[in-house]
Amino acid sequence: MGLNVHKIRDDFPILKKGFVYFDNSCMTLRPRQVVDSINRYYNEFPACAGRSMHQLGNKVTEEAALARKSISKFIGAKKPEELIFTRNTTEAINLVANSFKFEKGDKVLITDKEHNSNLLPWQLLAEKGAIKLKILGSKDDNTFNMDSFEREVQDVKLVSVVHTSNLDGVTNPVKDIVRVAHRNDALVLLDSAQAVPHKDIDVKKLGVDFLAFSGHKMLGPSGIGALYGKKDLLENLNPFMVGGETVKESTYIKRIWEDVPERFEAGLQDYAGIIGFAEAANYLKKIGLKNIEKHELMLNKQLTLGLENLGAVKIIGPSVDNRGGITSFNIGSVDSHQVALLLDKSANIMVRSGAHCVHAWFDKHKIPGSVRASFYLYNTEDEVEFFLKKLKEVKNILN
Ligand code: ALA
Repeated sequence: MGLNVHKIRDDFPILKKGFVYFDNSCMTLRPRQVVDSINRYYNEFPACAGRSMHQLGNKVTEEAALARKSISKFIGAKKPEELIFTRNTTEAINLVANSFKFEKGDKVLITDKEHNSNLLPWQLLAEKGAIKLKILGSKDDNTFNMDSFEREVQDVKLVSVVHTSNLDGVTNPVKDIVRVAHRNDALVLLDSAQAVPHKDIDVKKLGVDFLAFSGHKMLGPSGIGALYGKKDLLENLNPFMVGGETVKESTYIKRIWEDVPERFEAGLQDYAGIIGFAEAANYLKKIGLKNIEKHELMLNKQLTLGLENLGAVKIIGPSVDNRGGITSFNIGSVDSHQVALLLDKSANIMVRSGAHCVHAWFDKHKIPGSVRASFYLYNTEDEVEFFLKKLKEVKNILN
């Protein structure tokens, strides 16, 4: 069943301004349902969860617990306790990097397409001598190199890989990655920031050990995200950020840690964010992730064909069937920022340009950056057509 995009667009009053928003890999727009749920927290029960026994405290405790349940269910987790709230994917990956009990000589494997969020935490650990970092090269078409992986994973403790790339939209074969990693006694952490918002994810079926994602890329508020982890693995992590609500008891010299997940959620939390995050997950679930995925691919096929017909356009990555709802490209050697600025100024079209926080990949390939269009459920075929028309004009001006 196709999406009723026009009905969906009614939930996003900002779209009435008439612009075209193709920067969804960076941040999505929010439907009024999400904004209303945030307002509900501030207007009706703006108190602390898990601490105060009064009626407002009890209400927010109840709402935050419901939110944890909804979001953990959204990704197919067995239990709500397997979900730790973080500020975003970046914080979730840093949490694992800084709390995993690595032993001297342990190796972590990432790919050459990781976002800075899944490169820098490991780079720092390697510089401190806490781990050895292995970087797996992609195949020539920028897809996952399973043959190299089978060889390289043999002495690895933890594999931390991107699920869907923010650079070119390629989704890695994570089921196979997990299978091969586990066969070699390695654990797997997935950076799913660009996958959870666009695909029907079931962590049990994937078999993954940890998975990080963000609210702001799936219609939720910014500043809220989550780390999923198998319960026994979370229980075995060292505490990372510590403070209020991370202990059951403390004295001046010792403490008894709280259970998982509270042990990892230090201090007052972003309750409005947590509630808005759950509202976003429920909204997406009602529309159906499979429908959303199909819609984005349909738009991307239209875009890719149009770009190919434009000439002198180089798309990063493999054929569109492997790129979901993301296309990164360059027009000859024209500066990507100039293209983005001109599209915005002359046609109210918003795309992202530059290195998309995957600087290492661009450095390796000696490409300064790219123009990136990324779709979501509210984008339309008319918008893609308009984009292609305006891009042609921009191309003629800049050439
Ligand atoms: N990771 C985000 C992007 O790709 C910020 O734009």
